[in-house]
Amino acid sequence: MPKILWNHCLRDFLRDTSCPLWLLLLAGRHKNSDVNRMSSYPMPNHDTDELFLCQALDLARQGIGLTSPNPCVGAVIVDSKGQVVGTGSHTYDGLKHAEILALEQAGEKARGATLYINLEPCSHQGRTAPCVDALIAAGIGRVVACMEDPNPLVSGQGFAKLRSAGIEVSFGLLEEQARALNESFAKYISHHIPLVTLKAAMTLDGKIAPPQKQSTNSAARSGGTRTDWITGESARAHVQELRHQHDAILVGVGTVIADDPLLTDRSGSPRRRPLLRVILDARLRLPAESRLAKTAQEDVLILCSFAEDEKKKQLQKLGVRVHQLPPADSDGRPDISAVVRLLGQMEITSLMIEGGATVNAAALADGVVDKVFLYYAPRILGGTTSVPFAGGVGFASISDAPYVKSARLHRFGEDFAIEGYLKDPYA
Ligand SMILES: NC(=O)c1ccc[n+]([C@@H]2O[C@H](COP(=O)([O-])OP(=O)(O)OC[C@H]3O[C@@H](n4cnc5c(N)ncnc54)[C@H](OP(=O)(O)O)[C@@H]3O)[C@@H](O)[C@H]2O)c1
Ligand SMILES: [Zn+2]
Repeated sequence: MPKILWNHCLRDFLRDTSCPLWLLLLAGRHKNSDVNRMSSYPMPNHDTDELFLCQALDLARQGIGLTSPNPCVGAVIVDSKGQVVGTGSHTYDGLKHAEILALEQAGEKARGATLYINLEPCSHQGRTAPCVDALIAAGIGRVVACMEDPNPLVSGQGFAKLRSAGIEVSFGLLEEQARALNESFAKYISHHIPLVTLKAAMTLDGKIAPPQKQSTNSAARSGGTRTDWITGESARAHVQELRHQHDAILVGVGTVIADDPLLTDRSGSPRRRPLLRVILDARLRLPAESRLAKTAQEDVLILCSFAEDEKKKQLQKLGVRVHQLPPADSDGRPDISAVVRLLGQMEITSLMIEGGATVNAAALADGVVDKVFLYYAPRILGGTTSVPFAGGVGFASISDAPYVKSARLHRFGEDFAIEGYLKDPYA
């Protein structure tokens, strides 16, 4: 039986002030145990449901980087004595959905048992048969889920089919966490474009780099260690986690010329598809000797408006993909909305824009940004020539300026970050 990842669960409980103290103590006492032992304690139903859903969510999180373009799903089957009899975590390459893996483990013990799952079981034929049919056939007695499936092909129909087969169904517990986990899937499955997150690291006064000529880092260029990072180690390690959660990352060619970044996922966690590194580069200025070009293995995609044949061939020879898009009327550069649509066609469910100032401004002006993750270091750079978070002409009035909703504050040592939404990914 796989060991439960209690740490994530406990962190969530500690954040949740409504969680009873006795439950925290109990969970703490058993943080190295498995649910089989834990379930021998008599607990009110609601809290037991929450704990098993927590386990399902932890199993679902194991799929980060491995499930896209599918959602992250974890399932736990618990018999009438409170014993865990099956668990499952979906991966795209593994094909089988989490509840099917859990049912296979449970075998006959699934009869009359409860399924805990973060997402509504599917009711449609996809790459696999509908999970609801398998759950009904296995005699599952009760289903407790965090949320409805945002997939328009399911959205409530899975629950309806289970109910019509006499299975007790409830959902809504830990819904916020479950929705956050699969927000890019929700955006992609309804709109066929990725969820777009704008990420930047800046000083308290909103500067993302010192004046341009000083920002060129020779150590980075020669593959050495950078010493001019704005934020500290723990914020930068978190950026790697964010990259791991994304299918693609995007910068402008200005950032490549200034910083010579690698733009790789260095989280150390496994991923199914390589992180797609996308560069907006209207005239194909990307240096062939850049680290991006040198490390390209068909995972670097340049989006240009005009491509000189020889340069295009040179980059393609290095393993860089070059795609030409019709130039936008305004500035002859690739239109960012068209870029986002193109990435959607490539089954990219999540895109993180990492700047710089020109691209940040263009993305905000085009209205493609769904959420922001903005890191702040306690420094003040000042200066009229240092690089602002967003350049361009900006917004004409306060009322036109995008409003960041549901903002959450994260601490990384002395640094902090604001995570918030410009649009509801589920809308
Ligand atoms: N602290 C941070 O988080 C962070 C992150 C990234 C960058 N930076 C800093 O930002 C600075 C670079 O900023 P930047 O403004 O020069 O570079 P940028 O935004 O990365 O790149 C801008 C360039 O991208 C090209 N581009 C192509 N299509 C575009 C489109 N649709 N919209 C906008 N640009 C498009 C344009 O060049 P063409 O017209 O030739 O195509 C444009 O000049 C550097 O100093 C870097 O260190 C900081
Ligand atoms: Zn399914």
